[in-house]
Amino acid sequence: MTVLVTGGAGFIGGNFVLDWLSQLDEPIVNLDKLTYAGNLQTLAEVEGDDRYRFVHGDIGDRELLNKILNEYQPRAILNFAAESHVDRSIHGPGEFIQTNVVGTFTLLEAVRAYWLGQDDQAKSAFRFLHVSTDEVYGTLSADDAPFTETNRYEPNSPYSASKAASDHLVRAWHHTYGLPVLTTNCSNNYGPYHFPEKLIPLVILHALAGKALPIYGDGQQVRDWLYVKDHCSAIRRVLEAGTVGETYNVGGWNEKTNLDVVTRICSLLDELSPRQDGISYAQQITYVQDRPGHDRRYAIDARKIERTLGWKPAETFETGLRKTVVWYLENQSWVEGVTSGQYRQWLETHYRG
Ligand code: NAD
Ligand code: DAU
Repeated sequence: MTVLVTGGAGFIGGNFVLDWLSQLDEPIVNLDKLTYAGNLQTLAEVEGDDRYRFVHGDIGDRELLNKILNEYQPRAILNFAAESHVDRSIHGPGEFIQTNVVGTFTLLEAVRAYWLGQDDQAKSAFRFLHVSTDEVYGTLSADDAPFTETNRYEPNSPYSASKAASDHLVRAWHHTYGLPVLTTNCSNNYGPYHFPEKLIPLVILHALAGKALPIYGDGQQVRDWLYVKDHCSAIRRVLEAGTVGETYNVGGWNEKTNLDVVTRICSLLDELSPRQDGISYAQQITYVQDRPGHDRRYAIDARKIERTLGWKPAETFETGLRKTVVWYLENQSWVEGVTSGQYRQWLETHYRG
């Protein structure tokens, strides 16, 4: 038995591969295009592991997909591969349509052909698990109930629209062709190996570098935060026991304003790596221009996955955030590896002025 993950050199996929190999004997194949967000340093510790194979390539490459599927005969595919950053989708949506929509379509078609060629037993045991986001549901006001699996899709950014489109394709491939699919819609992840274009790692690294901590707009936007290892355990549980064709919301029951998140990071850094002048890192907080179309609030109702599959997050926001800050303080070489010229160019373009 083998599973195939796509996008396994990224933040969540990388954590998923590491957790899988630390807990299970089943081999895992990782197909990743290695965009700016993909980093093999994350997977250095499993490089020589017989249970692990890396394939460099694109989920939009049908020929390559056919070859990998035939060679490794996976019993499941976990689709993490995506362009994932909302701000980048605003600057340049094309790649998001290409990978998230066309890429997912190409992957579904290759997997459908492969799945049809399996015997009846393998066919019914097969799973295609699509990793998606809560952003497909749009935005909430302060007194709205959290998103459930039956909320309408109302994506507001090019990123969330492209993810919504991919979710619809996955759903249709089940209804029309019978492909055994599962979809998870998760809230904001944080933890080790998070690329520093996203809020939490960006703020940790900017604080330590003595740079401004950029808060978009009034900083009162709300996100629900989930420690990445908890997301990985939810995905393993859905893969193992989820009902084919169903979607599962995954969240941490940790709604926080952005300002609260940034202030907590500053307090942790004040304790763990204080500034030499004794002033709090919070002094570096700077309000900057808001993100266009910025969703005000996301909140996840994760009762379905808890009730039906018995999954609950293990970390609180306090324990998870402390682990994360400590990880960044202890893993400066990983940080140096990913903060290349391309990354610096992004900061220059996006935070200019
Ligand atoms: P990421 O940007 O850190 O990693 C994406 C990975 O996909 C990278 O390794 C990249 O090289 C790879 N990739 C991109 N295009 C590819 C292509 N065409 N073919 C093969 N590989 C390709 O993203 P992430 O934060 O790890 O997110 C993983 C998945 O989880 C995404 O589908 C995202 O939408 C979803 N998600 C993310 C979050 C979050 O908070 N980060 C929350 C919910 C859902
Ligand atoms: O909700 C799940 C989604 O969470 C995932 O689908 C996305 O892939 C992931 O990137 C994340 O999207 P967000 O846009 O919520 O994450 P980001 O870290 O970019 O921003 C979190 C919040 O912080 C958001 O309200 C914007 C704000 N922000 C972000 C940055 C980078 C700032 O105020 N300043 C910043 O510099």
